[in-house]
Amino acid sequence: MRLFLTMIPDKLDLAQLPTPLQFLSRLSAELKGPRIWVKRDDLTGCATSGNKVRKLEFVLAQAIAESADTLLTCGGLQSNHCRATAVLGAQLGLKVHLILRGVPPEQLPDGNLLLASLTGAEISCYPLSQYQHLKELFDYWLDFYRGRGHKPFIIPTGASDGIGVWGYLHCVNELAGQFSEQGINPGAIICATGSGGTQAGLTLGCHLSRLNIPVIGFAVCDDAVYFHGKIRDDIGDWQKRYGISVDTEQLNIQVNDRYMGPSYGRATPEIFSTIRHMATLEGLILDPVYTAKAFYGLIQEIKAGTFQDVSDIVFVHTGGLFGLYAQHDKLGLSINSSAAGFIA
Ligand SMILES: Cc1ncc(COP(=O)(O)O)c(C=O)c1O
Repeated sequence: MRLFLTMIPDKLDLAQLPTPLQFLSRLSAELKGPRIWVKRDDLTGCATSGNKVRKLEFVLAQAIAESADTLLTCGGLQSNHCRATAVLGAQLGLKVHLILRGVPPEQLPDGNLLLASLTGAEISCYPLSQYQHLKELFDYWLDFYRGRGHKPFIIPTGASDGIGVWGYLHCVNELAGQFSEQGINPGAIICATGSGGTQAGLTLGCHLSRLNIPVIGFAVCDDAVYFHGKIRDDIGDWQKRYGISVDTEQLNIQVNDRYMGPSYGRATPEIFSTIRHMATLEGLILDPVYTAKAFYGLIQEIKAGTFQDVSDIVFVHTGGLFGLYAQHDKLGLSINSSAAGFIA
């Protein structure tokens, strides 16, 4: 443990850890820039894959410590976080209720929504105009469950709060060990930023362990000003909950909001061609909502010379595979079957 912390809260072992740190030799050669490494947090599990599991190890431990029997959380229709919560809730024998933004699909659900439905999670979909009143919706369902003798526990969007921060704070320890084992000296750690908790944990972890590596979050929805505030809020909540004091002015928070595309969940053709290119070149599968936007941004910045003095870069692959299934029609793929060789 390289972090000098006297207290660490309860944690459940839900993720497959440590995840590998993988060198992308062909992409690094193609770009002729720094060596590019991927922290494979898309391998934290199968149906539970991705970054949310690290946060939920702490958040669900807290829910159980509070004797909760029902998890209430929220997100988009294709939320990775909601899918991970639904699967882990079923794994732990807890009821899960998802408050989702959007209109339910007329056909059978796909991607994350399919898996969440499969686990038997209760699902309530609200159009954006109603979802904007999220606090009232949570209050309604809290009262609903309490009135029926249940103990509901609210998990905020993306499990990003002071509890969830522990997930990526811990990941920094794992990374620091791999950096020295694999003899690398990263000049930046890159991640996709959607609700801020992953970047908050990584940034705080690098600060506390004096790693002196900037963490750059590529925003996939809101702008840099919003995320600076959100990341500080999550770290502030962490300090308050656990009574740990950190000089937040010293935190190196860097957000790049130039590659989020048209809006959350919608990606440009360049993003889909990045997905195809990385799958072909390295067998690395990215998703159009989070990781491919951040990866595309990273490639553009390398090409622009932003990292020319840097020897190694680490991209944290935060998962999202099931979101790709939900947008498979935008990949421009067709099966080109060549069935030669059959002689009747
Ligand atoms: C696949 C994936 N990558 C990245 C993120 C962003 O992480 P965070 O919400 O901690 O900013 C999310 C969730 O929002 C996600 O599901």
